[in-house]
Amino acid sequence: MRTVFWDYEQNNVKMIDQRTLPWSVDIVAYEDYRVVAQAIQEMVVRGAPAIGAAAAFGLALAAQQSQATNRLTLIKEIEAAAAHLNAARPTAVNLYWALQRLLRLAVSEELDSADDVRHALLQEAQNLADEDVALNRRMGFHGAELVSDGDTILHHCNTGALATVDWGTALGVIFAAHEQGKKIHVLVDETRPRLQGARLTCWELQQRGISYDLIADNAAGYFMRRGEVNLVLVGSDRTAANGDVANKIGTYQVAVLAKENGIPFYPVVPTSTVDLNLAHGDLIPIEERDPTEVVAVWGTPIAPDGATARNPAFDVTPHRYVTGIVTEAGIVYPPFVKNLRRAVEAEQKK
Ligand code: MRU
Repeated sequence: MRTVFWDYEQNNVKMIDQRTLPWSVDIVAYEDYRVVAQAIQEMVVRGAPAIGAAAAFGLALAAQQSQATNRLTLIKEIEAAAAHLNAARPTAVNLYWALQRLLRLAVSEELDSADDVRHALLQEAQNLADEDVALNRRMGFHGAELVSDGDTILHHCNTGALATVDWGTALGVIFAAHEQGKKIHVLVDETRPRLQGARLTCWELQQRGISYDLIADNAAGYFMRRGEVNLVLVGSDRTAANGDVANKIGTYQVAVLAKENGIPFYPVVPTSTVDLNLAHGDLIPIEERDPTEVVAVWGTPIAPDGATARNPAFDVTPHRYVTGIVTEAGIVYPPFVKNLRRAVEAEQKK
């Protein structure tokens, strides 16, 4: 089953509710784009490519909800809905990228009527979702060449089928290497405060029968220094033109530790996550979430009443710590300014 999909019989958007995993697998349905935006904000759906697809289906939903009979009136309403969806989470550029792709189509002169626009938007959201699955497979194939039989791979957050429409980015590389028969072991960072590693990555690895151990986030350096890690694979929510990588909070310290210990560090990044408009990573907007996520673990308080907390959801890893970036166009190596642009433009021409 896909993480997010359109139900053509019931004419609504459906998602796996990632807040209740791994304890129960619940499917939720949405018939209002505003509730889709809320689902993105509350992380019912999360992971950069998955929220891009959710936003695209959300915009198709907005077009269907609208009573407009006139094409231009519908376009105005869709633009307002896109702004609302885009505000749900600021760091993952896939949200903006997906909405822009649909908005460009909505204003196309070739669409004569409001119903033409409605039909085209749903079709485009579906195309985007289907393409996500196909390109994740390609990235997995490219990235698997970095994995040797017997490797132990350290992984941060969740970048699997749940973070995408299906298959995954960094975990997709691990799945591809496993499919090729390579014997691998994964050290799974628990990924405080939302525990995407413990709850979601362990669940996905377990389902595929891939060997893993869950580790506390602060144990990564211990295993690296002991020579127990061969490779680090992570995802990204936005990668700047110079190869600086924004990803789940804690990625930066993993990258620094990897360099210190001579371990290759590869983000696995679809070109839709590369923001060529941003020269460097310090320009990437970083989401700060509710401090209650830090002072409690899944509702159980771990600090005294009244404790204050900070909760940045992402950090930026400067490109000097990045060995290479796996994309669907192949593995990109420094100089990233030149080579990332080349990879992104090659994919855009397809
Ligand atoms: O806050 P989340 O769970 O949406 O953050 C997800 C990540 O940081 C992933 O590593 C990233 O989206 C890339 S995975 C496809």
